[in-house]
Amino acid sequence: MALLQWKDQYSVGIEAVDHEHRELIELINRLYGELSTHAGKDAIEGFFGDLFTGISAHFALEERFMRERKYHDLDAHKRDHEQLLEEIREIMDEVAEHEEVAGEVLAARLEAWFGRHFETHDARLHKAFGAHPH
Ligand SMILES: [Fe+2]
Ligand SMILES: [Fe+2]
Repeated sequence: MALLQWKDQYSVGIEAVDHEHRELIELINRLYGELSTHAGKDAIEGFFGDLFTGISAHFALEERFMRERKYHDLDAHKRDHEQLLEEIREIMDEVAEHEEVAGEVLAARLEAWFGRHFETHDARLHKAFGAHPH
């Protein structure tokens, strides 16, 4: 079962950016799918490691783009990225204690964050400057 679902309100109005965000959600779903078939501590650590890497890579791309364009809101946007990474670290620590992932709780926490970030920071950034080059 998919952990996260794409929602229309996530759209920033630029197809290339929406595509990239959809891919991010797909990556998370694929990793979660793999986790469901491999129980245990190593699988959970692997899941969060890959999740962290995938999300960090997307953020790094956006932050480079903002620096190149001297985006006025870079600091606040970057801080929001850091908060999500921090939240993932917190979830990782909680999961490490219990050695299991509660899918619904994880989905709710990630979805709340993604939804808010896509609709605010990413929408503002990409409306101002369009899509970033890869
Ligand atoms: Fe983004
Ligand atoms: Fe962003």
